[in-house]
Amino acid sequence: MVRTPGVGGVLPRTEALVCTLPYFLGYYGQICFTKGKQKVYTHIAGTGSAVPQRVLTNDDLAKMVDTSDEWIVSHTGIRQRHVVGPDENASTLGCEAARRALADAGVAPEEIGTIIVTSTTPDYAIYPSTACVIQGMLGAKNAAAFDMSAACPGFVYGLTVAKGLMQIDDRPILVISTEIMSRTINWSDRNTCCLFGDGAGAVVLKNSEVPGGLGFHLIGADGTGAMAIHREGGVRTEETARQAPGDLKMDGRAVFNFAVRSFCDIIAKSLEHYHYTEKDIAWIVPHQANTRIIDAAVKRINVPVEKFYVNIDRFANTSSASIPIALDEMAKKGMLHRGDRLIFAAFGAGLVYGGVVVEWTK
Ligand code: UT7
Repeated sequence: MVRTPGVGGVLPRTEALVCTLPYFLGYYGQICFTKGKQKVYTHIAGTGSAVPQRVLTNDDLAKMVDTSDEWIVSHTGIRQRHVVGPDENASTLGCEAARRALADAGVAPEEIGTIIVTSTTPDYAIYPSTACVIQGMLGAKNAAAFDMSAACPGFVYGLTVAKGLMQIDDRPILVISTEIMSRTINWSDRNTCCLFGDGAGAVVLKNSEVPGGLGFHLIGADGTGAMAIHREGGVRTEETARQAPGDLKMDGRAVFNFAVRSFCDIIAKSLEHYHYTEKDIAWIVPHQANTRIIDAAVKRINVPVEKFYVNIDRFANTSSASIPIALDEMAKKGMLHRGDRLIFAAFGAGLVYGGVVVEWTK
C-alpha cells in the first residue's frame, strides 16, 4: 500500500518539503506540499469527457446472446452502453475529452507539463504510448507524455502520480482515461458482453496556494488475484509473444467480493483520516461497475446510497474512464459546489484499488 507522504509514507524527493502532521490535519485536513515558504495544493481546474455516438441497448444485446433487459438491469443496473465506430479509438476519444477539459480549465495545450493516459485499450500494443499520440494530436509540444497501467483504478492512480510529479514541476498536468472496452470482449459471451462500454474522461490539474483540491490518497494492490480479470498475449513466453491478446476473461464473483471490500476500505479510511462522518462528504464517485457492488458496500458502512453518484445505467463499465466521465457529468449538471468534499473509489484488474478525497474548488 502506498500512502500519501505524511500518512506514514515516504517522501518522493527530500526537497519537496511536506507539511507537518498538525498542519494537514488543520485546514480541512488537506494535504499539501511547500514550495519555499508557500504551501501548494493541487486542484482539478477543468473536466471533459467524450463518448461515442453509437448506443447499444440491453434489448439490442438480447438479440445477440441469451440474455434479457430484466436480467442485466437487475444484476448490474446497466441499461445501455456507448460503442465506438470503426474510426474511433482510445486516442480519438481521449483527445476529445482532453480538449474539453483544457477549454474548461482555460489552459492552452502548450502550457501542459505532462500528459498521463490511463487505458487498458491503448492504440498500440506497448509503444508508442497513447499519451504520445494524443500529445501530437493536441499540439501539447512542451509536455512529457506516458501511459499508466492500473486498469479501472487508473484514473485514481493517475491523479496520485500527477500530484507527486507536480511537486517537482509546477506546470499543469492532463490526466486522460480512455477505454475502448467493446474491442476486448467476446460478444457471444453473455457473462461479460453486457457489462462494458466505451468512453473517455479527462481532467486538468493545476497547482495553487489556495487550499483545497486533491487530499488524502490511498492506493493498493493484491497481486494474488492477478488472474481474476485478464487478457492473454504479452511477451512472457515465445508463444504468448506471437499471440493476439484475445478476449477479456473474468471471475465475476471474485471481483465482486474484492470490489465490495475495496469500496468499504477506501471510504472508511478516507473518513477516518480526516475524522469525518458521512455528513462531511457531499458525494462518493465510485467506479461504475455494478450497482449491486454499491448496494453491498452500503450495507456494511454508514453511508447512504444517495451519496453515491451513479450513471452506469447509461454508460456501463468504462473501466478507468468511468470516474472522470461521472465527474464531468456532475460538474456540467451544476451538482458540484465550491467546498464540496468528494471521495473517488475504484477497484479493478490486478487486482488493484484506489481512492482519493477531493475538495472541489472550481
Ligand atoms: O471493473 C471491474 C470489472 N468487473 C466487475 O465489476 C465484475 C464484478 N462482478 C459482477 O458484477 C457480477 O459478478 C456479474 C454481473 C459479473 C455476475 O453477476 P452474478 O450475480 O455474480 O451472477 P453469476 O456469475 O453468479 O451467474 C448467475 C447466473 C449464471 O447461470 P447459471 O450458471 O446459474 O445457470 C450465469 O450464466 O447468471 C447467468 N448469467 C446471465 N444470464 C442472463 C450471467 N450473465 C448473464 C446474462 N444474462 N447477461
